[in-house]
Amino acid sequence: MHTDSWAIRAKKLGLRSRAVFKLEEILIKTKALNSKGLVLDIGSAPGGWSQLVKILQPKSTVYAVDLLPMEPIKDVYFFQEDVANIDAINDISLLKTKFDLVISDLAPNLTGISAVDEENIYELNSITVETAVNYLNRSNGTLILKTFQNSLFKKIRSNMEKNFNIVQTFKPAASKSKSGEIYLYGER
Ligand SMILES: C[S@@+](CC[C@H](N)C(=O)[O-])C[C@H]1O[C@@H](n2cnc3c(N)ncnc32)[C@H](O)[C@@H]1O
Repeated sequence: MHTDSWAIRAKKLGLRSRAVFKLEEILIKTKALNSKGLVLDIGSAPGGWSQLVKILQPKSTVYAVDLLPMEPIKDVYFFQEDVANIDAINDISLLKTKFDLVISDLAPNLTGISAVDEENIYELNSITVETAVNYLNRSNGTLILKTFQNSLFKKIRSNMEKNFNIVQTFKPAASKSKSGEIYLYGER
């Protein structure tokens, strides 16, 4: 499908972002979403990924965090906060080691200076891996993390490999080939 067609399809289905189709492909291929799963969506606004999880698994419970506000979604518990401060969100910190799935579409504001942007992406990715390690179920939790093919990609992948038994890379069809974005999947 032409990349712009994903945006049109998302709009027609009432979904808030075309990013849903990237996550959908990974969730279907990996079977990472359980029917009654507890899901943490990091960098959730405007809410496409949270919407998708509730559509695919209506009985799942979703907690979502973003710096920006997010319009409410039924049965999604949203907190406007920096992910670096996630432990300060009482409702979420009570659920340490209880989550089945952490999904992170976090993206920093780009400066256009590649060394700075790569460092900022790496920093956000590292916070995400640390958050996933603290919040996921110790025996079978899964992390899906958006990152970018840049000079620090190997470093973030090796950080994932230290913390997860299985690590895979995904480039979904809905992801623009020139964007450089790529998804890491980690399973404990
Ligand atoms: C690509 S968007 C997410 C799109 C979302 N997955 C969807 O489908 O609607 C990336 C989000 O990451 C958020 N973000 C960036 N840095 C953050 C941080 N430190 N803490 C929380 N959210 C952050 C941005 O505010 C932005 O909303």
